[in-house]
Amino acid sequence: DYTTKIANTTFDHLFINAAGVYCQTAEQLDQIQEAEAVAAVMTKSATAELRLGNQEPRYAAFPDQHNTINSMGLPNLGLDYYLNYVLKSHLKRPTIFSVVGLSQTEIVANLKKLQASNYTGLAELNLSCPNVPGEPQIAYDFQTTDEILKQVFAFYDKPLGIKLPPYFDLAHFDQIAKILNRYPLAYVNSINSVGNGLVIDPKTDKVVMRPKDGFGGLGGAQIKATALANVRALRLRLRPEIKMIGTGGVTCGRDVFDHLLCGADLVSVGSQLAIEGPTVFARLEKELEAIFTEKQITSLDQVCGKLKIF
Ligand code: DHB
Repeated sequence: DYTTKIANTTFDHLFINAAGVYCQTAEQLDQIQEAEAVAAVMTKSATAELRLGNQEPRYAAFPDQHNTINSMGLPNLGLDYYLNYVLKSHLKRPTIFSVVGLSQTEIVANLKKLQASNYTGLAELNLSCPNVPGEPQIAYDFQTTDEILKQVFAFYDKPLGIKLPPYFDLAHFDQIAKILNRYPLAYVNSINSVGNGLVIDPKTDKVVMRPKDGFGGLGGAQIKATALANVRALRLRLRPEIKMIGTGGVTCGRDVFDHLLCGADLVSVGSQLAIEGPTVFARLEKELEAIFTEKQITSLDQVCGKLKIF
């Protein structure tokens, strides 16, 4: 039994598509919904208006290493498109509506629209897109993050989570957690891609993507240790009422188990979903099941946050 609850939403499984992957069009969102072992469908981070995103090539995968780099630049069909999708009545899974903005004003306007809509499900505020040229990852600026949350929670009263970039310093975990603990967040999703990595093609001595001269967000197995550290560090610092979604480096059941040990309530899958397709969730669930059986684990409580230390 993998039942988990976040705010007003009950999930029957553990897995979500990471925002950005397999979720740009209604067809893709339907495919995630129809997949086995899916907890919820996450929509592509929406801006107020449709965006084409950065020039191609803007994504490269190295399937042998389960690694990816991307510089998509927020291609999306616009807030109304995704709002229309999540308001459809025949959805068989819960949805999480990912919202982004290129300015504080746009973020607030987008969430005002969501607040005014009939949508009552979970939303996720993405404060961590690394790929829009000239735009910093907001959640690396603690003061701006605090200001945005203050402005948002002055009017937004539906369940809201936040998507964070990875942090690499314990002082930063202390600082961000102190801010987040002041707001009625439903959950924290950690981590977004590891921003501004660089991959070089040895055959051509050239970068692998056009935007930002090849700099882009890293994903896949290479980011697992960073993801686990972030989930763990935040779980230890956030109020227990704030749930956690673990994202980063999940390619097999053991990776899921590790995210759970660090404190994740749900786990999302990005690169491996892009590489393998929506059947990835059923495979991960089966592999996790085998680990539970071997360790005689019968409930998620026995695992979630139960990482052992010396
Ligand atoms: C994009 C990448 C991200 O990591 C993100 O959080 C939002 C958008 C992108 O490039 O489209």
